[in-house]
Amino acid sequence: MDTTSVWRATATGAGFAMLQADVQCDVLVVGGGITGVTTALLLAQQGRKVVLLEADEIGGGTTGHSTGNLYVTTTDGISSVQSTWDETVAREVVQQRKAAIDFIEQQCRDLPNAHFTRCPLVLWSRDLDGNADVESEQQALAQLGCLARLDEAGVRPGLPQPRGPVMVLEDQAQFQPQAYTLALAQRAAKAGASLHEHSRVIELDAKARVATTATGSVKAAEIVLATHSPKGVHLVHAEMPVHREYVVAFEMGATDPGPGIFWWSGEQGLSIRTLAHEGRRYVIAAGPEQKVGVHNAKASLLAVETLATQMLQPGPTRHRWSAQNYRSHHGLPYIGRDHSGCFIATGFSTDGLTWGTVAARLLAAEISGQPDAFGKRCEPGRFTPAKGASTLVEENLTTASTLVKDYLTRPQHEHLSSLAPGDSAIVEAGGETFAAYRAPDGELFAVSPVCTHMGCKVRWNSVETSWDCPCHGSRFRPDGTVAEGPALVPLHRKHVQLG
Ligand SMILES: Cc1cc2nc3c(=O)[nH]c(=O)nc-3n(C[C@H](O)[C@H](O)[C@H](O)COP(=O)(O)OP(=O)(O)OC[C@H]3O[C@@H](n4cnc5c(N)ncnc54)[C@H](O)[C@@H]3O)c2cc1C
Ligand code: FES
Repeated sequence: MDTTSVWRATATGAGFAMLQADVQCDVLVVGGGITGVTTALLLAQQGRKVVLLEADEIGGGTTGHSTGNLYVTTTDGISSVQSTWDETVAREVVQQRKAAIDFIEQQCRDLPNAHFTRCPLVLWSRDLDGNADVESEQQALAQLGCLARLDEAGVRPGLPQPRGPVMVLEDQAQFQPQAYTLALAQRAAKAGASLHEHSRVIELDAKARVATTATGSVKAAEIVLATHSPKGVHLVHAEMPVHREYVVAFEMGATDPGPGIFWWSGEQGLSIRTLAHEGRRYVIAAGPEQKVGVHNAKASLLAVETLATQMLQPGPTRHRWSAQNYRSHHGLPYIGRDHSGCFIATGFSTDGLTWGTVAARLLAAEISGQPDAFGKRCEPGRFTPAKGASTLVEENLTTASTLVKDYLTRPQHEHLSSLAPGDSAIVEAGGETFAAYRAPDGELFAVSPVCTHMGCKVRWNSVETSWDCPCHGSRFRPDGTVAEGPALVPLHRKHVQLG
């Protein structure tokens, strides 16, 4: 299935050369999403010698598979930050996120392709018992000085109609995240940073501060792991549940709700936005999150497409894609130096276009010796005086049960030779277990099903055609190479004897 996002389809690539030398620098940034590119730009503007290594293409990771919305609150609500922490922390979150959006707006002044637009965020609930959450979010935001009100007029035509209160938060924004990140990368290069695409870090010696790719290496005074989930084994992995979300972009139907971030919340809700590109209008819908490796990918995508078709009555489907989010413990991201000695920036949930920009600003300030006080709140090894720890316990039970169950579950008995084109299976043959996939052209791939990060067993993802690890979200292509997540090493490729 083609899973090119509307952002990737409508932005032109950067074309940075692959790293082909052994180089030294002040700061190595690993990862060319919004976090890494913004960090590289800010550090280069400070006069630092910066190298950025991107495994694939700039902006082509989660940033280019997001929904491109920018808001001062968070997906779980500022009211949840306030109840988990307190009003001071909630106020700081709003201030930091507002400053990041203003920074993005400033960067976009001469970037028409980034399509930065100020717009409202509209929140309403699908479930009757969610109505109280809408009201408490409005109250919390208003108390923090945000322009949040309850709107008696309901929601705009073309959207699923409410059965309760509707909150409107004015002066939020949306943009084209891939085009923005590409433009910032060009700007970072102009400021003196060396950026390299198709330069995957395959070995990382955090102590010696050396990162190695297939064609070169970088030795740096400091390393920033801006890889969404930090590469290698980090303590934060134990605290971060990983979820996947499915997104569909349709051509606009007869009724266009206009610019806006429309959160129709609830268990089966949708996050909806619109987009204008070269005379075409799109409506984009993202569905609820699913735990990585323990859901049916095709069914989840179909559910979003069906619900959006029923509720939005759009034109034809143009793009389908999915992406992963890493949720932090207690609502604040992890930004700063961790036990590995590297700087990390992760735990953004689905709010990371803004959190990634906050992270870049905090990291650049810290590396230049002028740390921001909010950085202390986000330290990866922080002591968490927040109230209640049930979420973490529940989520960790999933990981623990996956680890245990995987080794107790007997693999499916299939014959490799009988695997049809497009099929996948965990196969036991000759005393060995294979994660096997036969490509539509008949080529058979067989790899070890044991994740190289920390040893959980991978599961098939039928939408992305990948082996996904339910524990910390590493994903591998059918040939075993790493697609995303904390793993550095590919799944072991197995020699197959048919018969
Ligand atoms: C469906 C969905 C919708 C979302 N919508 C929004 C939204 O509307 N608003 C919002 O604020 N947030 C949103 N988010 C969250 C947001 O997209 C992410 O938090 C954010 O893009 C993370 O940016 P990043 O730069 O940290 O990571 P990424 O964009 O994932 O960048 C990391 C980069 O690191 C590279 N990399 C990985 N390993 C290596 C390696 N070994 N060597 C070199 N490079 C490597 C990857 O190729 C990738 O390009 C959404 C998330 C999802 C899942
Ligand atoms: S991602 Fe950690 S064990 Fe697989």
